[in-house]
Amino acid sequence: MIKQAHLFVLLMALPGATAAFAQEAPKPEKITYPMPGQVKTVMINKCYDCHYDGERDEEAKAGLNFNTLDQLGKIKQLAVFSNIQKEIEKGAMPPKKFVTKYPKAALTKEEADLLVEWVKKESAALLKQ
Ligand code: HEC
Repeated sequence: MIKQAHLFVLLMALPGATAAFAQEAPKPEKITYPMPGQVKTVMINKCYDCHYDGERDEEAKAGLNFNTLDQLGKIKQLAVFSNIQKEIEKGAMPPKKFVTKYPKAALTKEEADLLVEWVKKESAALLKQ
């Protein structure tokens, strides 16, 4: 019994379990903006469910929509990346209320760093184009 309980805790702690907070199945193939696999995984697990075409909250979609990100002009993309960095550094995304309800939805320190490093690098690359 004890062993089984441990296994359960272990399974719940696996990254895949974060998908459990999602009400609709994510459609990761719709993130067409090119990003490294690790970054994409975090975006899908921790951000995509509220920031895609099917999201009902218009404000969330207007702030970031992974389905249309690659169709935006460079200036708008830079603004989105800058907002992503700001929101993550403030600890504002995923929203606090949501994280309180679903603690597994929170970004770990490593994930937050990974996303911030990527948006910084991506912005620098866009500026050079
Ligand atoms: C549970 C739903 C939910 C999740 C998960 C979520 N967001 Fe949001 N996001 C929102 C809502 C709602 C808004 C609009 C209201 C606001 O800004 O708080 C928003 C707004 C934003 C904005 C626009 C802010 C602005 O001022 O223009 C950005 C950028 C953003 N989110 C990034 C992220 C990132 C990055 C993640 C993953 C780490 C994430 N979000 C996860 C719901 C979510």
